[in-house]
Amino acid sequence: MAVIYKLVNVSKIYKRKNFETRALDDINLDINEGEVIVIVGPSGSGKSTLLNVLSCVDNVTNGEIYYKDMNICLFNEKSKVEYIREVPGFIFQSYNLIPNLIAKENIELASHISKAPLDVKDIIKLVGLNEHKYKFPFQMSGGQLQRVSIARALVKNPRVLFCDEPTGALDEKMGKQILKLLQKINKQYKNTLIIVTHNPSIGDIANTVITMKNGKIDNIKRNEKTKKADEIGWA
Ligand SMILES: Nc1ncnc2c1ncn2[C@@H]1O[C@H](COP(=O)(O)OP(=O)(O)OP(=O)(O)O)[C@@H](O)[C@H]1O
Ligand SMILES: [Mg+2]
Repeated sequence: MAVIYKLVNVSKIYKRKNFETRALDDINLDINEGEVIVIVGPSGSGKSTLLNVLSCVDNVTNGEIYYKDMNICLFNEKSKVEYIREVPGFIFQSYNLIPNLIAKENIELASHISKAPLDVKDIIKLVGLNEHKYKFPFQMSGGQLQRVSIARALVKNPRVLFCDEPTGALDEKMGKQILKLLQKINKQYKNTLIIVTHNPSIGDIANTVITMKNGKIDNIKRNEKTKKADEIGWA
């Protein structure tokens, strides 16, 4: 299997006066293309920071990150913008939708900035929002809002979907439906799915489960068999 990200001695240090936090502490890691990767670990262990540096939203302090053969730490501003437009899609716990646009418009907006967007109508159907596409965010449930945010991330046809606590605000039923949708997307579009979660049960849907602790990789577990979202436990 091809490696999509290679991290070599990656550190991210936040300095404030004479106090520093090693959010990422000398990480070496390969991430396989097309896999579902779940990242778990205590609060403050560096999970979100890892997503931020992989997606080029933040810079590393030391080390190198390769996306395929490109060292993304050496990108100039222009390459960084191109990379962020083409490679990562983002899904968060708080859906971050634009409140005065309906669902369909929130999704269309994202399609305009992509060079090779997917068809908005197809994506709306795929995520099960056809009946809700004319609703404003305040008229939708948490699960529906998360579907809009997934559609918005997906429509630009990203190679990697970064999901930071995608089910964090949802109950078990909604949460599993969202995971089921993410699994379907991974299968259909062959993009790499990186999911950060506090819910260890979600690890059962992953090809690889990465546990972080104090800015380091504490454990890497490869699942020979992965479960479907509706077969897993919850928390
Ligand atoms: N912008 C920042 N400035 C200073 N310190 C930061 C900043 N962002 C994160 N940190 C620190 O880096 C460490 C890792 O933070 P990070 O957000 O990656 O943790 P996390 O594993 O995502 O936690 P959580 O599960 O609570 O979301 C924490 O100690 C945090 O306080
Ligand atoms: Mg976090």
